[in-house]
Amino acid sequence: RIAALVHAGTPLAAWPAEFFRVDDNIRRRGALLGADFVPGSALQAAMKRGRNGWLEEMRVSGLRGRGGAGFTTAVKWGACRDAPGADKVVVCNADEGEPGTFKDRVLLASQADRVIEGMTLAAWATGARQGLLYLRGEYRYLLKHLRAVLAVRRAAGLLGARILGESGFDFDIDIHLGAGAYVCGEETALLESLEGKRGTPRIRPPFPVTHGYLGRPTVVNNVETLAKTTLIALQGGAAFAATGTPQSTGTKLLSISGDCAYSGVYEYPFGVTIEHVLEDCGAHDPQVVQVGGASGVTIASHEFHRRIAFEDVPTAGAFMVFDGRRDPFEMARNFVHFFAHESCGFCTPCRVGTALLKGYMDKLASGKGAKMDLADIEWLDRLLKNASHCGLGSSAPNPVIDTLLKFRPAYERRLVSLDFKPAFDLDAALE
Ligand code: NAI
Repeated sequence: RIAALVHAGTPLAAWPAEFFRVDDNIRRRGALLGADFVPGSALQAAMKRGRNGWLEEMRVSGLRGRGGAGFTTAVKWGACRDAPGADKVVVCNADEGEPGTFKDRVLLASQADRVIEGMTLAAWATGARQGLLYLRGEYRYLLKHLRAVLAVRRAAGLLGARILGESGFDFDIDIHLGAGAYVCGEETALLESLEGKRGTPRIRPPFPVTHGYLGRPTVVNNVETLAKTTLIALQGGAAFAATGTPQSTGTKLLSISGDCAYSGVYEYPFGVTIEHVLEDCGAHDPQVVQVGGASGVTIASHEFHRRIAFEDVPTAGAFMVFDGRRDPFEMARNFVHFFAHESCGFCTPCRVGTALLKGYMDKLASGKGAKMDLADIEWLDRLLKNASHCGLGSSAPNPVIDTLLKFRPAYERRLVSLDFKPAFDLDAALE
């Protein structure tokens, strides 16, 4: 039923209520989910403030990137605006590929106007004239819906030349489809892919804000980040910053899945505890929560008091619940398989390291692991973390590092038992 709703680009209000949950603390102030939106209203409000005034409002909001890393959006926009070159670009990163993350898909399906208006707001701040929305290949079915939204906005004067009659404010958006590579969610691999090349991450610095698409100054923002800017334009930066924590302002969308009664997209003020979320989603006997997906943090039950916030447990949105029936080792092994499959093969530490790690985990799973293998796994974890070319390789060992630390017995019970009787008992013979 949910797949059909997404397919049809159904408005938020028509989705099954249990799929969306908005924390009561933010329902009336500052929630993104369920809030009505009139296309163009945020743009009008931002344009009234002027380009500099709007960027200042963004600064006051303290908004940080919702793709996972949490870089301050106003700093990114300001750096792009100040970069030399008049041909700036705004890119929406809709290559949502992290296992367990699906909130961007829901935003694109149900709040596309907010996302596209967010891109236009970024253009107003930076002076960009070109926008590119990089859509995850698996989200191809949203293409028709997104193109229709773009067409309606063009007809309404919200895209194209002289937006809302403002001379010098020209901006339009194209949509590009990815082809299913996880690594293309990394912003510089995404830019390479946009340029028609193989999606290999670039070395940063220089950052895209100065050297981005075709070497031009480029803002790359996540879908949720862009949607959130419409709230800031309408409510003001201070009102936005009143929710959440001082270092992590506003709200966060979580994609909740796994062993719980109500999976779906939830919205919470930053600072919410993991146990609060678990209670809301009807998790029974939760043992582990994988926050941030395969590349994220494995949270054991004694840590459920921790908070979702950039200063404690950051996440791009994934919140995967595992109850007592699940084996943390098997969870980590599954993620290792994912990374070995998705490694782009460009750098040796990641290409070889993820394949070796997969081999060791499979060996343990088959019951043939030796104690030495655990030491080798730890050595590989360090190698991947320190020597990989990009974030894919350096975050690939995260689930193994965390589960080895917090659930070591799950590994040790798979080792070949060394408790064997030798055929010839030397001690007895000597006696
Ligand atoms: P990062 O911290 O290197 O950069 C974050 C953003 O800030 C980028 O846009 C970067 O260009 C910008 N930036 C950083 N320093 C800058 C500077 N000095 N000047 C101008 N701009 C600057 O993080 P990265 O590698 O881009 O992303 C890693 C995150 O992605 C992780 O937190 C991970 O959780 C998340 N992730 C999200 C996925 C998803 O599906 N949403 C998939 C995989 C990872």
